[in-house]
Amino acid sequence: MKIIRSIASMQNRVKEMRKKAKRIGFVPTMGYLHPGHMSLAHQSVKECDITVMSIYVNPLQFGSGEDYEKYPRDLKKDITLSKKAGVDYLFVPSDYVMYPEGFSSKVSVTNVTQTLCGASRPGHFEGVATVVLKLFNIIMPDAAYFGQKDAQQAIIIKKMVKDLNMPIEIKALPIVREESGLAMSSRNAYLSEPQKLQALSLYQALSKARQLIRQGECSKVKIISAMKRLILREKSVKIDYIAIVDAEKLSIKKIIKGKVLIALAVFIGKVRLIDNIKLKVKK
Ligand code: PAF
Repeated sequence: MKIIRSIASMQNRVKEMRKKAKRIGFVPTMGYLHPGHMSLAHQSVKECDITVMSIYVNPLQFGSGEDYEKYPRDLKKDITLSKKAGVDYLFVPSDYVMYPEGFSSKVSVTNVTQTLCGASRPGHFEGVATVVLKLFNIIMPDAAYFGQKDAQQAIIIKKMVKDLNMPIEIKALPIVREESGLAMSSRNAYLSEPQKLQALSLYQALSKARQLIRQGECSKVKIISAMKRLILREKSVKIDYIAIVDAEKLSIKKIIKGKVLIALAVFIGKVRLIDNIKLKVKK
């Protein structure tokens, strides 16, 4: 595995691979790799000739007061894990490389950014879309792999690629969970053992919603109240949002029918975690 830090050098490698008609798979990450990231890398290795992974904690997607400075980082461990997963190139740019002095462009995807995390983290998805577009332009992948845990992110990237006619297949792979049900996330590293137990309520609440819907419950108020009751059993927990939306447009669902995404963001102490499930509801 080659570690690449400059854009010119990454672009030269890409040129060589394109000349040889290699299919390039790309896994963008912010590092502190966990089995969720590994599943993306494995899929890319399986489907593509060459896999490029990026590790870059993108300052543009963090709001003021968020966890940019203390976001967990462990490049040494990430190098070992990505090598083991079969990654061919690890692209690790610095802030200066990504955003040199005078950088002044931003990518804004509208509509699908209004709800869920877009509503509670203003500017977040502009930061995501900007860095992902830059990475796509540098790596020119045939396919890019994202986790379904960030369901809204995957939809926004799909929309951006479609709107801007980029020939890239965007794949959103299933959430990888710990045995307890907790969705894998680099931010789980912030949690103490008691907080890890409190965090189980996210998936328990989503499972409760699924169970109620399968039993025929169609009142959104009742479903969300049941989820809230479950989560708020713990005192140091605060709900950012719970939403039931159309799984593709992300618009708020008035009636629970068709492809539905149930998504939530919850603060366990100061740690903000997200999770979701997708359901097909026939009625
Ligand atoms: O999902 C992430 O880790 C980040 O949002 C991404 C896609 C790597 C962009 O910084």
